[in-house]
Amino acid sequence: MSGKPPVLQVTGLDAGYGDLQVLHDVNLEVYPGERVLIFGPNGAGKSTLMKAVSGLIHPWEGAVTFNGRAITGMPPEKIVSLGMSYVPQLDNVFANLTIAENLEIGGVLDRRRTAQRMQEMFELFPVLGERRKRMAHTLSGGERQMLAMARALMLKPALLLLDEPSAGLAPMLVADTFRRIVAINETGTAILMVEQNAKQALEIAHRGYVFETGRNRFEGTGAEILGNKELGKLYLGEEE
Ligand SMILES: Nc1ncnc2c1ncn2[C@@H]1O[C@H](COP(=O)(O)OP(=O)(O)O)[C@@H](O)[C@H]1O
Ligand SMILES: [Mg+2]
Repeated sequence: MSGKPPVLQVTGLDAGYGDLQVLHDVNLEVYPGERVLIFGPNGAGKSTLMKAVSGLIHPWEGAVTFNGRAITGMPPEKIVSLGMSYVPQLDNVFANLTIAENLEIGGVLDRRRTAQRMQEMFELFPVLGERRKRMAHTLSGGERQMLAMARALMLKPALLLLDEPSAGLAPMLVADTFRRIVAINETGTAILMVEQNAKQALEIAHRGYVFETGRNRFEGTGAEILGNKELGKLYLGEEE
């Protein structure tokens, strides 16, 4: 996109757990301002890739570059401080803290901006503002997902990683979630997200990657992926 260097570049990445190699020579790029989708079957290594990029697991081989800087093997808190936030699929809020407390923790690396940023989050997610004193465990699934995203946005990251943000949400809330992701992106945060609702997610994605057994299988624009007959049959529920 527009000749700018990528905000995130993953090259030749191998990673896994113990003896199990999950990622094999994975390559991926996200350019400033982009919304990029990753999809593929269960167990393809999508979450493992998110963990390797955000520093939660150490890559075995290859490189992760963020805004031109090598971050391979850096601890997650350092990567967050450089401007990349990650929202895991599960356990992404502190259940026994209030909404406001969750957001404070999200902003702890830049306390001077916390109050203002929290206000901005309440504008983006009004329902969180109304409930700011409520414990996170009392929230619905959709509200909790909003809180997880808001918490990740407190430091105004250049890149937001989202692992299945619409998982487990009612169809109406899925569309809502995708609309919010677009709104977040339009404030200047690039998005890399894993989604099972691939068809809907492709509608808002600039580009997408299909992963299979820990490898790059296909990449292209939403239209290219949606127009690929074989991928359509395999992953998008298209009939022959
Ligand atoms: N913490 C872990 N320890 C060992 N194996 C894991 C762990 N997490 C995931 N795996 C394995 O890694 C493979 C890829 O998993 P994952 O990255 O979660 O796939 P996806 O997100 O695409 O469904 C699977 O075989 C899974 O069982
Ligand atoms: Mg996963």
